[in-house]
Formats: sequence, structure tokens, C-alpha cells
Amino acid sequence: MGDVQTAESNNKARLAIMELANMISVPMSLNAIVRLNVPDAIWQGGANTPLSAVQILSRVLPSGGGDPENLQRILRMLTSYGVFDEHLNCSGDDSHSPERKYSLTDIGKTLVTDAEDLSYAPYVLQHHQDALMRAWPLVHEAVLNPTWEPFVKANGEGAYSYYGKKPEMNGLMQKAMSGVSVPFMRAILDGYDGLTGVKRLVDVGGSAGDCLRMILQKYPHVEGINFDLPEVVAKAPSITGVTHVGGDMFESIPAADAIFMKWVLTTWTDDECKAIMENCYKALPVGGKLIACEPVLPKESDDSHRTRALLEGDIFVMTIYRAKGKHRTQDEFKQLGLSAGFPHFRAFYIDYFYTVLEFQK
Ligand SMILES: C[S@@+](CC[C@H](N)C(=O)[O-])C[C@H]1O[C@@H](n2cnc3c(N)ncnc32)[C@H](O)[C@@H]1O
Repeated sequence: MGDVQTAESNNKARLAIMELANMISVPMSLNAIVRLNVPDAIWQGGANTPLSAVQILSRVLPSGGGDPENLQRILRMLTSYGVFDEHLNCSGDDSHSPERKYSLTDIGKTLVTDAEDLSYAPYVLQHHQDALMRAWPLVHEAVLNPTWEPFVKANGEGAYSYYGKKPEMNGLMQKAMSGVSVPFMRAILDGYDGLTGVKRLVDVGGSAGDCLRMILQKYPHVEGINFDLPEVVAKAPSITGVTHVGGDMFESIPAADAIFMKWVLTTWTDDECKAIMENCYKALPVGGKLIACEPVLPKESDDSHRTRALLEGDIFVMTIYRAKGKHRTQDEFKQLGLSAGFPHFRAFYIDYFYTVLEFQK
């Protein structure tokens, strides 16, 4: 019995390591279907009609060409990861392969361009740009010498300054941020009321100003300051009620009665976070709040989708942005707030990826 169990568990282990070793096929295939515009081609205004690879290809390449068999191989694999639903039409004749058609699942639909020209597709593309891909074989270097991010080792400079010199990368980065931020902000504005009564609000690291734009739709009397690096705000569109201010959060942050910050602390070291939060503290009146929305790690490690998405994001931060930037637990955030002078702390779990962290002066 023991031998059978050992053989069975060895067999499972060999299978599991094969799956892990081949895992790169998953994100690269996701990138491929985004590059080929497959989600928009299937969606077609909400029809989401199951289509064969030949039919999808004829929409993607109206003038013809392409290899439907290879497209189908990609669609099948991503079906296994929940991106597509597969519809099999078996003729009953075993000598023929069944006809396979594909529609989008809820996960696949996140890649469809919406009425505001947004989706998660630019986020997928952003993560697979050449400069980022060059960093991935160097993850182990973050262990051997965390002074330099793998991205810096691969590209000779940090990610933000690298993007800053490449307008197309900066543009894609901003579009990626918007695609992720807009649905998150909808959820937060529905479920969190900590912005009620705020008159002047600064969004630190606000990128193109999407978070403020949405906050102002719900709170039109708020005076919004979108604060980011000068080269980033230079490309930001004008938004009614929002002033774009270029600067460096490590030097100073414009004064306001509340500060919003999304996806910023994660990419910095503990000392850098403390410096940013101290500048927030200086910019706020007594009772003023820093409202930070960041991924928050659970204490325990498990195999849930949430824990995996958060732990995988942690390795992304280490590789691309900051070898000692990181995803943190709720308690680590609370301690950071205390070290910067904020005596009060509350956490709100509304969205599954980002937690709202309230630090009050
Ligand atoms: C991960 S993005 C988050 C953008 C936006 N808050 C969102 O969630 O969509 C981090 C932002 O921090 C900005 N940033 C980086 N260094 C900065 C600095 N020293 N001062 C101000 N902003 C900075 C970047 O330009 C970028 O827009």
C-alpha cells in the first residue's frame, strides 16, 4: 500500500513540476492573444458567439493569412486557465477531430476594449515589453545582490527613468494603469465612504489622473491635485476640477486635507515608504487622512487565486521596480504608518487585489 501511495505521489510530483516548468507558455500565450486582438474579435459588441480558430482568424486578419491550427493550440491552452470557454462539436465519427469553438469567459472579457477604450489588455502588453522581459532571467540576481533590480541589470537604469525616455512605453504604462484603476475605483467608490467631506485632495503618483477623475464624478466639489513626475503629468489629459502638478514625492507633496495614493508604496523600500509617508504627514492637517490603496499580503501562504496573484505581483515588483520594494502584510503597513507619525490606522477589504489603508494624523 505504502509503495503504491509513494508511486502515486511521485507521479503527481513529476506532473506538477512539468506544469510549473512549462508555465511560461501561459503568460506568453495571453500576450499573443492580446497582440492578435482575439478578445475584441470574439466579443464583437457583446455577441460573444462561439467561433472556430478559422473564424477568429478571418476577423483578426480580414485580408487573409495566418495559421488557424496554431491559434487553436493557444486557445485550447488558455481555455484550461479559464480565459475561454471551449464548445466541442463531435460529429460522432471518431476518425475526425471534433470541431472546437471558443467564446470569452468572465476572465476573457476583462481583455475586451470597453466604451472608454479601456481593458486589462494594455496591462498584459505592458508586462511583456522587451525591456521587462530582459529582466526576468535575472530574478536570482535580486537574491545575490539586491542593490540593483534585475530590470536595472538588464537595461542599465531604473524602470521609471527608462519609461520616461520612451514615450511609447510611458503611454502604454499609463494605459495599463488606467485599465486596471478604473474598475477598481468603481468598486471603491461604491463601498468606501472615507472621502466624504474632503475639500482638497492630492493623488500622489496619480499618473494620468484617472483615479481623481472618478473621485470627482462622485464628489464634484473636491479640488483635485494630480501629483506625479513632471514627464508623466506633461502627458496627462486635462480634467475638469483637476490641476496637474509635476514634482518628486521624496522632496515634498502639495498640501491638502486628504491624500490619495494608489499602487505607489508597493514599489519602494521600507525606508523610502517612510520618507514618502513623512512627506504626506507634513502635507496634512491634524485629523487629515492618507488613503493608500495597495495589495496586502495575507499572513499565511496558500494556493488561493488571491494569494497567488499577490505573491506573483510581489516578485514582479522585486524584478522590475525595486529589489527591496515589496507587497506587505496589513501589520507591516500599520508599522510603516506609525514610523511616519500616523497614530491611527484602519484597513478596508473591498476589492480582492487592493486593500484601502487609512492612516490618520
Ligand atoms: C504603479 S504607478 C500607479 C499609478 C496610479 N496611482 C494608479 O494606480 O493607476 C506609480 C506611479 O508613481 C509615479 N512616481 C514614481 N516616482 C515618483 C516620484 N518620485 N514622485 C511622484 N510620483 C512618482 C509614477 O510615475 C507612476 O505614475
